[in-house]
Amino acid sequence: MRKSENHSIVLSGMRPTGALHLGHYTGALENWVALQDVYTNYHLIADYHALTTNTDTSRIFENTIEMVIDWLAAGIDPARSPIFRQSQVKQHTELFLIFSMLVTKNRLERNPTLKEQVRDLGIESENLAYGHLGYPVLQASDILLYRAHAVPVGEDQLANIEITREIARRFNREYGEVFPEPKALLTEFKRLPGLDGIDRKMSKSLGNTILLSDTPETIAAKLRKAVTDPLKVRRNDPGRPDVCLVFTYHRRFNAGEIDEIRAGCTSGALGCVECKQRCAARIADALAPHREHRVPYEKDRSLVLDILAEGEKKARRRAATTMRAVHRAMRLGGRIGKTSVS
Ligand code: TRP
Repeated sequence: MRKSENHSIVLSGMRPTGALHLGHYTGALENWVALQDVYTNYHLIADYHALTTNTDTSRIFENTIEMVIDWLAAGIDPARSPIFRQSQVKQHTELFLIFSMLVTKNRLERNPTLKEQVRDLGIESENLAYGHLGYPVLQASDILLYRAHAVPVGEDQLANIEITREIARRFNREYGEVFPEPKALLTEFKRLPGLDGIDRKMSKSLGNTILLSDTPETIAAKLRKAVTDPLKVRRNDPGRPDVCLVFTYHRRFNAGEIDEIRAGCTSGALGCVECKQRCAARIADALAPHREHRVPYEKDRSLVLDILAEGEKKARRRAATTMRAVHRAMRLGGRIGKTSVS
C-alpha cells in the first residue's frame, strides 16, 4: 500500500525503562513492527513521562539507548518510522500547556489508570505531583501533535486514550477542526507470565523477566529457577501442563513439540529439568536473530544517536505544522491588520 501524508498515522509510545523483555515483545513490539507495513508510524520515547514516577534521571540516557537498540533489533525501521525522544521535540510541552486548560482537575483525579498507579506505588494524594496528575494530558499531546489516527496500546492504557479523545473533541468544538479523534488499537491480549508464576505478568519491577538481549546461558539459568507445577515434585510424578508456567512458554516458543511435551509431562516420562532445558533452548533460538541484530548498535552506540537525530528532525517537522494550525485556530500570535497568523 502506498503511504502519503494523508495516510493514516499511528503513534506508538513507551517510557524508557532500559532493556526490553519478552513481555514487551509479545505484547507491543511485534505489533508495532507489523503496523509499519500499513501505516505511517511515529515511535515516541516518553522520557518526560518517565519523570512522573521517578525523578532520578541518572540512568535515563542509557535506558533510552538500550530500549532503542531493542526496537531496532526487533525490526522497527527508522527510515520508514521515525524514532524520537519527547524531550527533544519542544512542541510536546507547548501543546501540553494548551491542553491543560481543556481538562478539569476532577476529570484527571477520576482517571482509573492514575488511581491504580497511586495505589500500587503507595503515593499519598497530597504528595501526588502536579505533573503526575497531568500524565494523560501530556500523553494527549504526544498523540495529537502528530495528528495520529490510531494508537496501539494495551488494555491498561485505554483510560488515557479516552482522555486524549475528549481533549481532541473539546479543542475541535472550541476552536475548529484540527485534530482527528484517535482510536486505540487494542493489542490482542497476549500477556506473558513472568518467571515467578503463571498469574503474574512479566515486568521489570517484579524482577521476573527474560530480556530480549539475554544470552542462551542466562536464559537457561533463569528457566532453571522458574516455578512449575507444585504437585510435580519428583521426576516421575505426573504433571499438569495447564497450570505450569514453563508449559505456557513451550506453547509460545515450541509449538512444534507441544503434544510430546504435554504427553511427557502428564505421564511423568519427562522431568522438569529436561523440560526446562528444552524450553530455554527454544526461547534462545527465537531470540537469536534479535541478539544478532543488536550487535552493530552495541558496538557503535553513535549509530543510535544518529537515528534519533534523524527521527527528531522528522518529528519536529510534523509537530511544527500542527502547532501552526493550533495557533491559527486559537488566534494566538497574529500580525497587525490580520486577525490570525497565516
Ligand atoms: N503511557 C504509556 C505507557 O505507560 C507510554 C506513553 C506515553 C504512550 N505517551 C504515549 C503510549 C503516547 C502511547 C501513546 O505505556
